[in-house]
Amino acid sequence: MVSRVIPVEPFDLVIFGGTGDLARRKIFPGLYRRFLAGQMTADSRIIGAARAELSDDDFRAMVATSIAEYVSESRQDSAMIAEFLTRLHYVAIDATGAGGWAALKDLMRDDVVRAFYFSVAPSLFGDIALRLNQHGVADAKSRIVVEKPFGRDLASAQALNATLALHFDETQIYRIDHYLGKETVQNLMAVRFANILFEPLWKAEYVDHVQITVAETVGVEGRGAYYDKSGAMRDMVQNHMMQLLCLIAMEPPYHFDPNAVRDEKLKVIRALDPVRPQDIVRGQYLAGGGQGDYLAHSENPHSTTESYIALRVHVSNWRWKGTPFYLRTGKRLRARASEIAITFREPPHSIFDDAQGWRENVLVIRLQPDEGMHLKVMIKEPGPGGMRLMQVPLDMSFADALGDDHDDVPDAYERLIMDVIRGNQTLFMRGDEVEAAWAWTDPIIEGWTARGDKPQSYDPGTSGPEDALMLMHRDGRRWREIK
Ligand code: BG6
Repeated sequence: MVSRVIPVEPFDLVIFGGTGDLARRKIFPGLYRRFLAGQMTADSRIIGAARAELSDDDFRAMVATSIAEYVSESRQDSAMIAEFLTRLHYVAIDATGAGGWAALKDLMRDDVVRAFYFSVAPSLFGDIALRLNQHGVADAKSRIVVEKPFGRDLASAQALNATLALHFDETQIYRIDHYLGKETVQNLMAVRFANILFEPLWKAEYVDHVQITVAETVGVEGRGAYYDKSGAMRDMVQNHMMQLLCLIAMEPPYHFDPNAVRDEKLKVIRALDPVRPQDIVRGQYLAGGGQGDYLAHSENPHSTTESYIALRVHVSNWRWKGTPFYLRTGKRLRARASEIAITFREPPHSIFDDAQGWRENVLVIRLQPDEGMHLKVMIKEPGPGGMRLMQVPLDMSFADALGDDHDDVPDAYERLIMDVIRGNQTLFMRGDEVEAAWAWTDPIIEGWTARGDKPQSYDPGTSGPEDALMLMHRDGRRWREIK
């Protein structure tokens, strides 16, 4: 199978925070891989902008190191790396002052796409947006890319949207949720809307429940200061998990078009019921003291921030009334495993007297690792002795199905950056979507804060707190094993 790589228009991409962690881990390695794949034309340039006084050569050396560290060895081609580095430039910039902006303006070209990636703290978004316009660096067609966290509640997200709107139109703003850039996440839409098989069954009448799991083995480690003010609800549920839920629950958009898709996602968020306290389980990992504890990484020794959360969520509309969505995400769990499992209801009538071995059909969409889809179906257990049933998976691992092409699948960031250059906002969150997500999230957090709820502790390497099991047992259901 040969994948088609269509080069994007020539661009000048400025990375604010160009010496930062995200840029070094994700953005530069991703851009190099797109370059290697032939997606960057010869006249495209990447301009690092940060406070440090670096020369172009210093900056190129830094990017070379990041490629060496974060790009797989099979893709390290020294001639190509050298060629890629020639497209890199650097400008020292003062985000809150006047320094460097004139130099940046001088670098900009008129006849190419200008994109500005704000890989900086959200507190600087307004300053940078203002200066881009004040100094004539941005033009009317320029695009800006902003990273999460996009606010920490509804009020701060509204303020951020309002600040950006002073300088840029909504069609110029690309709010990244890197989950939307994951191949399998986009596959959710292909599976639902490019097949006739699933959509007729995709409703409360046939779906018993949905489980969405994003389990991580990493802890908060060096990110304690940020994470402790955030917790799993703000860090994962308000954005990534919510997006997954939307893609599962939304109505078919009339077209695969940015606003059509985002309109449908927004309707799902607005249809979410408030979550009852008994439908929330929060946890914090505790290894019995020492560096393995969540609290070892928090500035507050009594922190009640959750590193795990499970929720039972209802989408109140005709399609989903009566089908709960169970969401869980946590750090330091048994395995790194993200998946969506859709469990279907029983057939209305069994013709087999001895329906021994019967289990529900389950469609599992595995997001990472081992991306793929598995449909669990019932068959007859082989051999004589009557009709006994057994469940078998119809497996499709993307690695097997796509063969060598699987290695060429772009990672979330590189795909999303190319979409920015193409001017395609489908996989980016619109301002009203982000606000609606906070409007649903805020009362949940306010509720547990007002009640003084504390997270339950759980052992690292497990599947999370005991109470999370109860959340499903109560309904006569079980979480799938994290593996
Ligand atoms: C980030 C969160 O947005 O997503 C992190 O801030 C989390 O806490 C990460 O670890 C998970 O992303 P991925 O792509 O590794 O599943």
